[in-house]
Amino acid sequence: MPPPVRRRDRGPRGPPEAPAQILSGRAFLRGKLQPIEVAISEDGWILALGKHLTGAPRHDLGEAVILPAATDLHVHFREPGGPSGLENIATGTVQAALGGVALVGEMPNTQPPVTDVASLEEKAARVRGRAAVDVLLYALPRAAPGLPALAARAGAFKLFLSPTTGVPEPPDGSEVPALLQRLAGLGLPVSVHAEDATHFDSSRPPLDPVGWNAHRPPASEEAAIGRLLPPPVPLRLHVAHVTRPESVTRLRAAGVSFEATPHHLLLNDRSGRDAYTKVNPPLRTEADRQGLWEAFARGEVPVLASDHAPHLPSDKERPFDRAPSGVPGVETMLPLMLARVRASGLSLSTLLEAACDRPARWFGQPHGRIAPGHRAHLLVVDFRQRTTVTAARLHAPCGWTPFEGHEAIFPREVYFRGERVVAGGEFEGETRGEVVRPEFAPGPTDASPG
Ligand code: DOR
Ligand code: ZN
Repeated sequence: MPPPVRRRDRGPRGPPEAPAQILSGRAFLRGKLQPIEVAISEDGWILALGKHLTGAPRHDLGEAVILPAATDLHVHFREPGGPSGLENIATGTVQAALGGVALVGEMPNTQPPVTDVASLEEKAARVRGRAAVDVLLYALPRAAPGLPALAARAGAFKLFLSPTTGVPEPPDGSEVPALLQRLAGLGLPVSVHAEDATHFDSSRPPLDPVGWNAHRPPASEEAAIGRLLPPPVPLRLHVAHVTRPESVTRLRAAGVSFEATPHHLLLNDRSGRDAYTKVNPPLRTEADRQGLWEAFARGEVPVLASDHAPHLPSDKERPFDRAPSGVPGVETMLPLMLARVRASGLSLSTLLEAACDRPARWFGQPHGRIAPGHRAHLLVVDFRQRTTVTAARLHAPCGWTPFEGHEAIFPREVYFRGERVVAGGEFEGETRGEVVRPEFAPGPTDASPG
């Protein structure tokens, strides 16, 4: 059962609200594409759906499809402290909007990291007035005494079980059960980077992505997931970027939420030979990629998330073992998958659940569906408008993408709180994104596979 959606308070007996605009097109409702009109209020909520609505200016989208905007649970916008010219909250949220994402979960491994109320407030101040979409801020759970105060202000926690960018020293494995127990009592979602460094293999220096997969092998993911299961009740546990079908089976059986990224779904350890495809956890073999893709296409992966983690070309071009891990992806996440829908390798309903509905509910936000009482974060998609991804046409300041040459379908228009912010492939809106926190707590199975 979906959680109740908290509509904005219109007073118990107020008159029905007049729409400010009506979008007329087609939408995927009750399992099929059908003509629909969507009435939107002045302040950006979906008021009603119908076949012929009246009472406001109508924007006729013809044969185009109206979709809910996506939520990306996992981005790294590098602010504060990122290298200059790489990324920041303003540039990252514009890429999100252009890629059809209305809410991002911004990770805390910045400089300084978000570990206390002061660093969280300082990051929230950077969002206000500069973000093109809404931002939920993760915090790193470090000092035990400060955790409740941090939980009262953060949107979620992120726990790294292994070293990665900006996280040189993860907590000792023996401390993890007590930490999870403490987090379980705080009510916020907890995302875990699940690699167990005691299973890393340093017998040979990693020289390419195949070597990186051998260095941080599948066994380290398996062991880390093993440490998390069964999670203490009522922990709202979510495992980030799983890479293999075995992890899908195990987490589904445990009823735990998890995500897969476009890079683990579409690329393998031979897709590139240099550090531009170096990520944590590593790209796996083609057999693993294919198994993960098939599980995703069967609807067994609850959430799609980008793990957008750009790095400067000058850093990616260092010798492989010293180059940083991470790839950009927030702008291409949904467009790559819409192209898969068009190519018939993925059903639209499976994609919408994984990219829009479940992640919005995981963050306790009333959007991700085209339904009255939900925010009007909406996309207009023309499935005939296929393009090829090239870094030159994207908006990432890092200037590269691991998906060069892949087919994509970008939204033709994007509406954020009812206001059109993207048209003709460019961001034309105002920066009205806000810091959001969970507005309602979904039950434990809401983001687990259904
Ligand atoms: O590849 C990655 N890059 N994995 C992570 O866990 C962190 C991220 C980053 O921040 O660069
Ligand atoms: Zn990440």
